[in-house]
Amino acid sequence: MAPPCSPRRPISAPCFLICFLLGFVAGLFFFAHRHLHLDHQLPLPSAPEAVTDPHPLPPPAPKPAQPKLLLVVTPTRARPLQAYYLRRLAHTLRLAPSPLLWLVVEDGAATPETAALLRGCGVMYRHLSSPAPEPPQEPRRRRQDLPVDSRARRRNAALDHIEHHRLHGIVYFADETNVYSLDLFHHLRQIRSFGTWPVAMLAPGKSKTILAGPVCNGSRVVGWHTAEKTRSLHRFHVDMSGFAFSSTMLWDTNNRAHQAWNYIRLLDTVKQGFQVTTFIEQLVEDETHMEGIPAGCSKIMNFHLHMEDRDLLYPKGWQITENLDVVIPLNQEGSTRV
Ligand SMILES: *[C@@H]1O[C@H](CO)[C@@H](O)[C@H](O)[C@H]1NC(C)=O
Repeated sequence: MAPPCSPRRPISAPCFLICFLLGFVAGLFFFAHRHLHLDHQLPLPSAPEAVTDPHPLPPPAPKPAQPKLLLVVTPTRARPLQAYYLRRLAHTLRLAPSPLLWLVVEDGAATPETAALLRGCGVMYRHLSSPAPEPPQEPRRRRQDLPVDSRARRRNAALDHIEHHRLHGIVYFADETNVYSLDLFHHLRQIRSFGTWPVAMLAPGKSKTILAGPVCNGSRVVGWHTAEKTRSLHRFHVDMSGFAFSSTMLWDTNNRAHQAWNYIRLLDTVKQGFQVTTFIEQLVEDETHMEGIPAGCSKIMNFHLHMEDRDLLYPKGWQITENLDVVIPLNQEGSTRV
């Protein structure tokens, strides 16, 4: 049957040897297999015995280290440049190493526009909506009253989802308006419990670039870059897109700073600038529980540009169904006269 042993030709010496060896190995294999089977019937030996077991059996195949699942949380809302931002982030995530689950959380009800975009994006995703839609208020008044960021509520909805389904992985808040390098997604998987890194950003006035995040010696956080005016009031100077943490911290009280708290969530009642530090304070006690990534924290891996559009109109479904009010007629006079 073996290809070198054609039945028509006389069997040469090397061929005979090969066939003999094949048969021998097959016999050994059968013996080993039966032996293995018998061993399985016996009570399992304790672990140290198993290590010193002189049997030539192959050790139980070590489980290949599963790459950690990245849980990328993106709050979004229907607005003119939503399609642009979401598509750009989807393209980045599509190139990022899998496994990656993209949790896209919309304000209020999920919109068909976002659903359509996500269906075609080629990334594993979950389309969520935040449970309590904001009561419609006049936006200008609300902004004056209390500068609360409604994205906190949407990020919390994603945390609810992760905790409820016990999704094990590294949670990262990736806002759609930021720009990310692929390096970042590789480094996120190195995080054991809480990782942070510096983020380059345009200052809100867009007049200068600033850096927010850790100063490190190796992976130890030894200080902070910041340009905040309220720096003395912040405990940790981290951007929302400048940290990631293990999802088990949400439900395993031994893994986090505040063991008595039931829920680790963003506080949507604090001003936007304080949301990150108040959230991180729930997770870690101090800098010694943080990992600066990559070692030295010398790499800028994402950019926070503070690019926002406000209150502009955009066509429903990104489709124009009606002509504009003014249609400029084609200039036919000029062409007929000449
Ligand atoms: C970094 O840490 C090492 C070991 O802890 C220490 O010897 C060294 O002086 C530190 N470097 C700086 C610049 O602080």
